[in-house]
Amino acid sequence: MPKQPLPGDRKTDDAGPHHHEVVLLHLPHSLLFLMRNIYHLRCGSHNPNPSGNGVPMIAIDEFLFPRRLVAAPGAASRLGRLMLGDQVPLGAVMVIADSIVHELGLDRGLVTDLEDNGYQPLVFAEITGEPDDLVLKRAVAAARSAGAVAFIGIGGGSALDVAKLVAHAVGGDVEPDELRGPVAPIADFPFLALVPTTVGTGAEATRVAMFAVGGAKRAVLSPQFVPAVAVLDADLVAGLPAPVVAATALDALSHALESAMSTTSNDLTWQFSVQAARTVLDRLPPALAGDAEARGDLLYASFLAGVALNAGVVLGHSMSYVLAARHGLAHGVGCSLALPYCLAYNQTMDAPRAARLAAEVLQDEASGLLDLATRVARLSADAGLPTDLLGFGSGTEEPAQLAARVVSDYPRPTNPVPLETGRLTTLITHLRSGDLAGAWTAMGATP
Ligand SMILES: NC(=O)c1ccc[n+]([C@@H]2O[C@H](COP(=O)([O-])OP(=O)(O)OC[C@H]3O[C@@H](n4cnc5c(N)ncnc54)[C@H](O)[C@@H]3O)[C@@H](O)[C@H]2O)c1
Ligand SMILES: [Fe+2]
Repeated sequence: MPKQPLPGDRKTDDAGPHHHEVVLLHLPHSLLFLMRNIYHLRCGSHNPNPSGNGVPMIAIDEFLFPRRLVAAPGAASRLGRLMLGDQVPLGAVMVIADSIVHELGLDRGLVTDLEDNGYQPLVFAEITGEPDDLVLKRAVAAARSAGAVAFIGIGGGSALDVAKLVAHAVGGDVEPDELRGPVAPIADFPFLALVPTTVGTGAEATRVAMFAVGGAKRAVLSPQFVPAVAVLDADLVAGLPAPVVAATALDALSHALESAMSTTSNDLTWQFSVQAARTVLDRLPPALAGDAEARGDLLYASFLAGVALNAGVVLGHSMSYVLAARHGLAHGVGCSLALPYCLAYNQTMDAPRAARLAAEVLQDEASGLLDLATRVARLSADAGLPTDLLGFGSGTEEPAQLAARVVSDYPRPTNPVPLETGRLTTLITHLRSGDLAGAWTAMGATP
């Protein structure tokens, strides 16, 4: 079973990206946001972990960010020129594409630009949803026989994860079967660019790649999986089906809020968490109504939330994994069910921090964590996502079974409130009937 990285796992040598360059962000407030971050860090005026004596505590163990971010409509079709300018050697470039993305021709501009700039693109478009070891092995074999020296992933988290894994396997001469957990960085990690076409995982910013072996998901971790180039091209999400927009945006919102609740949250991840959460709350409704600019904003928010994952996720993702496995749900649907209840469970976390999270995300000093949970639940319902388990035929025995699996398979040492099977059973009993108010009352007692 996959486990999220423990804080100790994150102490790997960072042989990966180290230049933090933002080429172009398409949101007007983005620059202000980054400038505000720098102001806060220099002046210590923001502190999600107040020490109580007014002295800011800024402790950042490690913070990974792609070496370059390019965010602009049409940017994917300029990647070949960018690679040439960056002296990426000419040769075979493997483009690992989601099959639907390829059928829709969303990778065409990228492939043409690679050819125009002297590269030899090899398109591997066999990613049909969550990848397994079989498709990974086929991709590795194709890359080796083509002599691929650079790798580009284009698609949802599934395609991006395969690109990370193939780059590592081919560059380090590692067999796919050996890939599990934290892997040692390799000497010359090949050029890797990631181009997301969904608005959820933020995989273009994370150190994680997942694939399934025999039906069980396996997480592979390397700082080198944070790519040389992340490309946010809003044109690629303009036609994304509304149910995928809704589910993946709730995945991004979960990354944003869970990373902020994590005990490993720091001043910098907090900034990304808050901005990502605000953007999803504001921009999902118009994005679902077909507003292309709002969809581009969600793509950006998904990236921000991926950066916030430097602090990892907490209980919500544990619940989402067991819910998705039990009822065959997309990852984002499981996240949307779990997130308000994760907030309910964690309401007894550090009080100033909880108050600050709600106030900053909702931009209202009077708001509390319950207001935030209610707003999230309403957003999911309005987006057409399920808000209870009864519709899936969930029986009365299910909450205790799911709670036991959360604790045994996905323990979260970084959750701000310790996971306890009895309380989780009560929590999931309320989730089963969609009773957030009841969950809030039940979880309000001191654990
Ligand atoms: N690396 C990480 O940090 C990380 C984090 C969380 C999840 N994941 C992994 O990511 C995967 C989930 O990613 P996802 O939610 O993006 O889903 P996905 O990649 O499986 O794609 C979801 C669906 O959307 C389709 N699709 C993608 N882009 C499209 C477009 N532009 N137009 C039309 N259809 C499109 C795909 O064909 C697929 O059917 C899982 O395998 C999960 O394990 C990775
Ligand atoms: Fe997720």
